Amino acid sequence: IISNVSDKLSLKSFLVGGCVRDLLLNIQSNDMDIVVEGDAIKLAQEVNKYINGEFFSYEKFRTATIKNEEIKFDFASARTEFYSCPAAKPLIEYSDLHNDMYRRDFSINTLAISLNKDSYGKMIDFFGGYEDIKIKRIRVLHPLSYVEDPTRIIRAIRFEFQLGFKIDKADEELIKNAMELKLFNVISFDVLKEELKLMFSHGSCPALIIMRMKELNVFKLIHPKISFNFSLDKLKGYFSCLKSEGFGNNLKEWWFLCILPIIYNILKSEDRFFKRKWKFTKKEILYVEKLKKFLFKFSRKRSQNIFKDFDLFETLEGIPSEIICFLKILEEKPLNDYVLWFEKNKNVFKPLTTGEELSNRSDVKPVFIGEILKNLKKEKFFGNISTYEDELKFINK
Ligand code: CTP
Repeated sequence: IISNVSDKLSLKSFLVGGCVRDLLLNIQSNDMDIVVEGDAIKLAQEVNKYINGEFFSYEKFRTATIKNEEIKFDFASARTEFYSCPAAKPLIEYSDLHNDMYRRDFSINTLAISLNKDSYGKMIDFFGGYEDIKIKRIRVLHPLSYVEDPTRIIRAIRFEFQLGFKIDKADEELIKNAMELKLFNVISFDVLKEELKLMFSHGSCPALIIMRMKELNVFKLIHPKISFNFSLDKLKGYFSCLKSEGFGNNLKEWWFLCILPIIYNILKSEDRFFKRKWKFTKKEILYVEKLKKFLFKFSRKRSQNIFKDFDLFETLEGIPSEIICFLKILEEKPLNDYVLWFEKNKNVFKPLTTGEELSNRSDVKPVFIGEILKNLKKEKFFGNISTYEDELKFINK
């Protein structure tokens, strides 16, 4: 359809980017990017007369999207981009396919397939992308690419794990050089966050992704003060704990759980920064608050007998299990002894009496049920009661 309509309107159109790359790699893609030398909106409008999908157009960018349950087509007018300074929003000018491909991130994303009848199916490879796909190499098109758009650094790491490719040695140097500049001050956190989310949603092993980020010195994109000292084994321990508790990349906050070991050391000092710039969600803020509250209490109670402190026990009990997985890998003594002790004992102090039992009793007012269960737990914690009969006596009293 696109081929026929392009010819009818005398427009040159091409299938480009990620979908061509995926096609060559035999990966199914439902996201089709089409570049048009000319008016992309006009082409999309005509095409949609046959497809009848949902239609959106953006005059300002001269792009349009057609969507139905199975597939999404993004139409864009070929353009070229100029960066006035590092990480700035690019200035745009309408152009041809070559320039449109040249503004892109990696050679593997610069392949195009002609859609016009006279050259239908012909592959256009301006920058050696086909060879790079064959040898699984990730490579930018020009040396300033990572400086102009630092989020490409995260994309490069994502493609390593998503496609099983490898960042070229020369690019590793470009990334390290780019990281020497103060890109942190100019980067768009919204875009960076989306790229981090994508990266962690793909990697089957977030621990390896984090170690790769460390190797390329890219934590500085998240915050320049980050000091990171977890070993690969510790990270693996954290992620396997999360997995065994049922948490995975289908969780909305998964990206947060992935970057937690990276930002842990500066969570306290840069609290406002993370909330404002990284726009943590309510649940992510709750994770941070609970973690901070517990660590604060723990640091104050260090000199006392922590294993006999019911308030501390209850504070840890109120922390979501995903954050406890993280606490378990902290190597600070006596914190890790305490967390391991908690893990072993948390069920020991649970009352045998249930809330339901209490609500069936005529002599117990519903408003007191929570209080009674808490007191039962407290008595068990201090070893004053242990059996079900003890609990009954305590309740009756
Ligand atoms: N792109 C870029 N720089 C970025 C983001 C995207 O040059 N920071 C380009 C890439 O060349 C990419 C195209 O824009 O091919 C579309 O981006 P996107 O949909 O994010 O990526 P895909 O390549 O389609 O791959 P995937 O769907 O796996 O993200």
